[in-house]
Amino acid sequence: MREKIVAANWKMNKDLTEGLQLVSDLVESLKGKKIACEVIMAPPFIHLSGAAERLKETDIVLAAQNIAKEENGAFTGEVSAQMIASTGAKCVIIGHSERRAYYGENGAVLHEKLLRAISEGLRPIFCVGEQLNEREAGKHFDVVSNQLTEAFNAIGADKIAQMIIAYEPVWAIGTGKTASPEIAEEMHAHIRSFLKERYGESVAQKMPILYGGSCNGSNAVSLFSQPNIDGGLIGGASLAVEKFMPIIEAWDQVHK
Ligand code: PGA
Repeated sequence: MREKIVAANWKMNKDLTEGLQLVSDLVESLKGKKIACEVIMAPPFIHLSGAAERLKETDIVLAAQNIAKEENGAFTGEVSAQMIASTGAKCVIIGHSERRAYYGENGAVLHEKLLRAISEGLRPIFCVGEQLNEREAGKHFDVVSNQLTEAFNAIGADKIAQMIIAYEPVWAIGTGKTASPEIAEEMHAHIRSFLKERYGESVAQKMPILYGGSCNGSNAVSLFSQPNIDGGLIGGASLAVEKFMPIIEAWDQVHK
């Protein structure tokens, strides 16, 4: 059986006090509860060490939202994979569409970031997804295949096998326009068959593929019930415990 995951992507939200309060609130809400999925939390960099402290006695996994592609040195403003790992974070989001669109991160840059993360033992949550015009032109499968091909490049199957993939159609992110379970499932199945072709059946079957884009407490059960959807990468709805908990608890209602 594949891992089931609900991951929070806070993006650039919450000051230090608010952020650490949110971590504590989530820890409190999960205390003593038997939950059916893994929970990952990706706050901004400045929250990482404080969050790690609060998450110590819990199963919640800490993640960063980005890393430098360089190892270390004169790169003002950047944060290295090694620095992130030293906080206790175990995962890192790479290739989010906002990084691609606003910071010019292309396949070559993302490839370097993936290598850097893996070499420091950080598990990448690698994001792919098409824009609305690409879907309307019928190019969505090709766009996603190309994003995977460029960023994975010559990375071996053993390393690919350590990753998490998130399908996030750009037109669904923060817009309230969730992809229907059928549309999402179709792409998730496409990604799994891409993985099977390139890296073999076992990598493909093991890979958690998360859906992201206006996922919330009302649509999570129908999305997570799809055979190839293994959880969600949650933006807006991860910023308040009362919105995030129903997404985690959605897994209680999914039997597959
Ligand atoms: P959203 O963001 O849930 O606010 O649509 C998801 C994401 O961008 O990871």
